[in-house]
Amino acid sequence: MVQGPVRIEMPDGSVVESDRFMVALCVCKRSKNYPLCDTSHRRRRRSGAGEKADKLDQRPA
Ligand code: FES
Repeated sequence: MVQGPVRIEMPDGSVVESDRFMVALCVCKRSKNYPLCDTSHRRRRRSGAGEKADKLDQRPA
């Protein structure tokens, strides 16, 4: 969390500004509003867990 307002200069030279009094910076890079957090980090992928369980079942005895 960063106290606003903020002005963020990106590596490509573009500038992102926010007038909010408190801003969360995205560290997961999933945000559709990057570099600002849009809470996308809360969503989990569920497809991997099932695949892992299937692979465990195929192990030789
Ligand atoms: S930290 Fe990336 S969306 Fe929240």
